[in-house]
Amino acid sequence: MLNLDGQVALVTGAAGGIGNAVIRLLQQQGAVVAAVDLNPLDETLLIGSGVQRPVKSWICDVTKVEEVDRVCDKVRASLGPISILVNLAGGSGTRAAQTLSDTTDEIWEHVMSLNVTSVLRFCRAIAPSMSSAGYGRIINVSSTLRHGIYGAVGTLGARLPYITSKSALVGMTSQLAKDLGPFGITVNAVAPGLTLPGEEGAITKRFRALPQEAQDKLTGHIPAGRPADGNDIANAIAFLASPEAKYVSGQVLDISGGA
Ligand SMILES: NC(=O)c1ccc[n+]([C@@H]2O[C@H](COP(=O)([O-])OP(=O)(O)OC[C@H]3O[C@@H](n4cnc5c(N)ncnc54)[C@H](O)[C@@H]3O)[C@@H](O)[C@H]2O)c1
Repeated sequence: MLNLDGQVALVTGAAGGIGNAVIRLLQQQGAVVAAVDLNPLDETLLIGSGVQRPVKSWICDVTKVEEVDRVCDKVRASLGPISILVNLAGGSGTRAAQTLSDTTDEIWEHVMSLNVTSVLRFCRAIAPSMSSAGYGRIINVSSTLRHGIYGAVGTLGARLPYITSKSALVGMTSQLAKDLGPFGITVNAVAPGLTLPGEEGAITKRFRALPQEAQDKLTGHIPAGRPADGNDIANAIAFLASPEAKYVSGQVLDISGGA
């Protein structure tokens, strides 16, 4: 049992597949969760996965700085000071760009804004109050794909900006850990491998739509013999969010079943 009693945890991308698992686990460990997403939470999925009501949720486009600042103010006013920030919102965008030539500035800037600049925006809005309190936990979500991939990956949209952005998050995590460490704030990243967080998750649907051969190719190299589920990722996030992880900072934890 991790002691998150009464701590306010702001989770972005909370309506997504991994987000549901993170909400449930942080709640079970005693945290008060502020769920933030572009889309509304699907309460039926949350209840089905064992989350107790109420989960307070806010709609926010993390690519818009004024929306980020506004939502952070609203969460603080509603729930009190935020001591845990989980930067989970992200993805490879809605427009496919498989080659360098496909990768327009517009696609690039959107994916970077979604995956990297959004983290800057939330950290900038929340870290000062964590610093004043002398305590905070920031967890960013990178990807094992940050090392680059050879060949097409059927579940990825704009792959060059996605991979670049998830790699950039690692540098950002290292520097923020150094800058914020003296104020009692730890900053870490988790890097999931292929994660299928329930049949309703967007990525699960894209994965299941692939030909069997492509699915086998994506999972065949995983020593654990299966993709991750949402709990595999949420468990690591919850540990890094806990007081017990106080001496862990600036790290990237691959959660990839040994792949
Ligand atoms: N599922 C995987 O295999 C995998 C692997 C490595 C990393 N990741 C990362 O984990 C995170 C969560 O992934 P997931 O599998 O739950 O995906 P998901 O698509 O189910 O969830 C992403 C969530 O982000 C939200 N979002 C998208 N754009 C947004 C915006 N502009 N403002 C606010 N919210 C926005 C979506 O509404 C969605 O709820 C992402 O950052 C993803 O890159 C996932």
